[in-house]
Order: sequence, then C-alpha cells, then structure tokens
Amino acid sequence: MTQLDVTIEPQSAADEAAVDRLQARAFGPGRFARTAFRIREQAQHAESLAFVARVGSLMVGSVQLTPIRIDAHPAFMLGPLVVDPAFEGRGIGRALLERGALAARAARGDLILLVGDEAYYSRHGYRRVPPGRIRLPGPVDPARLLALELQPGALERITGAVRGGD
Ligand SMILES: CC(C)(COP(=O)(O)OP(=O)(O)OC[C@H]1O[C@@H](n2cnc3c(N)ncnc32)[C@H](O)[C@@H]1OP(=O)(O)O)[C@@H](O)C(=O)NCCC(=O)NCCS
Repeated sequence: MTQLDVTIEPQSAADEAAVDRLQARAFGPGRFARTAFRIREQAQHAESLAFVARVGSLMVGSVQLTPIRIDAHPAFMLGPLVVDPAFEGRGIGRALLERGALAARAARGDLILLVGDEAYYSRHGYRRVPPGRIRLPGPVDPARLLALELQPGALERITGAVRGGD
C-alpha cells in the first residue's frame, strides 16, 4: 500500500464544518442520539479535545474526546472517531486513537471510555467494561462499552455513573 504523509493536529475552528460533514456521512442524522454526542452535549462547559488527520491540506479524519467523571474519577469519552472512506485502511484511525490517548494521559484521565466495535478497538488496547460497573445516560449494548486504562488497574477500581466532567 502506498505510504501517505498524514499529519495529526488539533482541530481548528475552520475544520468544524468539514468534520460535521464527515460525521454526517458516516453516521447519518441518527448521530445526535449516539452516546458520545449525548455526553458531549451534557459537558458543554468542558472544552473537548479534538484532533484531525490531514493529507496535505485535506482533512481526512477526526476524533474527539470529552472530559467526563465516572463517580469522582477523571476520565474521557472518545467519539466519534471517523475516517474518510477514501482513506480507510491506512492507519489513520490508529494514529488518531494514539494521539487521543496521548492527550488524555497528559490531561491526567484515569481511562478513556467509548461505545464501539470491540473487534476494532481491542487492537488498540481497549477492552470490555465489566458489566454493570459504569453507567451511561442512556442504553448501551454492554458488548460495545469499551475502555482503555490510562492508569494501571483503573478498570477494576472505577465504578459509577458517567457525567460531563470539568
Ligand atoms: C472505523 C474507522 C475509524 C477505521 O479507520 P481506519 O483509518 O480505516 O483504521 P486503521 O487504518 O487504523 O485500521 C484499519 C483496520 O481496522 C479494520 N477495521 C475497520 N473497522 C473495523 C470494525 N468495525 N471492526 C473490526 N475491524 C475493523 C480494517 O479492516 C483494517 O484491518 P487490517 O489492518 O487488517 O486491514 C473507519 O473505518 C470509519 O470511520 N468508519 C465509519 C465510522 C465508524 O464506524 N467509527 C467508529 C465508531 S465510533
């Protein structure tokens, strides 16, 4: 496969419309009902961490992390992660996840939570949250509730309801 020169950068205000188009194309109008969107709405006061992938000046992928609290523990909700279909399978999803994890670690979160396909995210260190330990505002398929520990043992230690963090 041809190597692409991909850069990962903080999302700027000028990227907003293109990111929205990418998310709309991937998830459709139902995207606003997705858990990550709902959590983001609840945490409006918190600056989310957002990154984009670029090939040259073209924005080809994006990821967002929202600060949350699980009980009193600082954590992040990741999502949505989206890559332009024309650029899939070239490691851009992986690069965005790695940059997100780096930022979440720097911001001293204990873990990153997301709702997604275990088959994809398990390649990136995410594993299933033990049933009943973390509650989200809305129904979630327990098989899709995944977390990446940023502190060793965080997933065993942390339990409670998720709310928008600060
Ligand atoms: C999922 C997504 C972000 C992956 O982006 P990407 O840049 O193609 O990812 P990478 O290049 O890092 O990884 C590609 C690999 O993951 C695999 N993969 C992609 N989606 C997968 C899924 N849902 N389940 C299992 N494996 C998956 C690909 O088959 C590929 O495998 P290979 O390396 O063996 O060829 C992208 O396909 C996408 O935006 N999809 C639509 C939106 C979405 O579903 N987002 C995630 C839900 S929050």
